Amino acid sequence: MHDITSIDAVQKMLDAQGYVCGRPLATVVFLSLKLGRPLFLEGEAGVGKTEIAKALAAGLDRRLIRLQCYEGLDAASAVYEWNFPAQMIAIRSAEAAGAADGPALTTSLFTDDFLIERPLLQALRPDARGAPILLIDELDRTDAPFEAFLLEALSDFQVTIPEMGTITAPEPPIVILTSNRTREVHDALKRRCLYHWVDYPGFDREMEILSARAPEAAEALSREVVAFVQQLRTEDLFKKPGVAETIDWAKCLLALDVLTLSPEVIADTLGAVLKYQDDIAKLQGSEAKRILDQARASLGPA
Ligand SMILES: Nc1ncnc2c1ncn2[C@@H]1O[C@H](COP(=O)(O)OP(=O)(O)O)[C@@H](O)[C@H]1O
Ligand SMILES: [Mg+2]
Repeated sequence: MHDITSIDAVQKMLDAQGYVCGRPLATVVFLSLKLGRPLFLEGEAGVGKTEIAKALAAGLDRRLIRLQCYEGLDAASAVYEWNFPAQMIAIRSAEAAGAADGPALTTSLFTDDFLIERPLLQALRPDARGAPILLIDELDRTDAPFEAFLLEALSDFQVTIPEMGTITAPEPPIVILTSNRTREVHDALKRRCLYHWVDYPGFDREMEILSARAPEAAEALSREVVAFVQQLRTEDLFKKPGVAETIDWAKCLLALDVLTLSPEVIADTLGAVLKYQDDIAKLQGSEAKRILDQARASLGPA
C-alpha cells in the first residue's frame, strides 16, 4: 500500500515531482487511490493528463505500465501474444534433434518462455514495490469493441490464457485512463471510473507550471509568454496551444536569449506554439501585435 492519507498529501507528492495539481484534480486522485477506482481524465492535448500518471508513478515509487491506444488496437496487442517465430524454431530444433514426439513438444510450447506479455498482463504481475500504475493512454483513439473488452478487463483484473490458466493480480493496479476527446468514450466505461475534466490552467497555475518545468526562464519573460498563450487560447484557432507548447516556447525563447516578446520574435518562433499552418497564417500581419497588446494589458503595469 501507499501512505497517501489526504488530498494535501497528494498535492505535496505531485509537487515534489514538478507536477502542479489543483485541488479538484488532487481530490479525484486521492479518491481513486483510496477507493481503488480507475481514474478517467479527459481534456485537450497537452494539459498534463499523461504527465500525471508519470508523476504519480514516480511519487509513489511504482512501476509505470503504459498502454498507448491506437486505431485497430486489439486484445492480442494489449494483453498477450504467443511468440510464434520462437515456437517455430523450437519445433524445428526438436525435429532436427529427432525428438519430435508430439505431446511432449506441445506442452512445452505454451510456457512463459514463449509468452509475450503486453501491458494489461504485465499490470497483473506482482511487483515488490506494490501494485503498478497502469496508464491506458488516449483511449479515444481505439474503437468500441476494444472499449467493451477493456470494460471486462477492468472489472475483474484477471486474464485467462487457455493454454496456461487464469492469472489474477495479487493487488489490482492503479488505473489511469486518458482521452483527448476526439470522440466520446462510452458511458459504461466512464461509469466504472472517477472522472475529471483537465482544463487549461489559469494564468497563475500556468506560471507555476512554467517555473517548475523551465525554472531558468526569467519571471518577466515567463509572464509575457503565459499571458500571450492565455490570450491565444481565446482566439478562434483550429488547435489551441497546450501547456506543453507554453513550456516549449519559453525554452525556445531562452535559447535565443530573448528577454521580451515582440511581434518579430513571435513571428519567428510561432512554430513552437501553433502546429497548424492555418493557425500560424492567422497570426500574420498585425494580429500578433494585437494579441501581444491584449496580453500586456492583462498583465497590468509592469
Ligand atoms: N500540471 C502540470 N504540472 C507540470 N507540468 C505540466 C502540467 N501540465 C502539463 N505539464 C507539462 O506539459 C507537458 C505535456 O503534458 P501531457 O501530460 O503530455 O499532456 P496530455 O497528456 O494532456 O496531452 C508535460 O510533459 C509537462 O511538462
Ligand atoms: Mg497524453
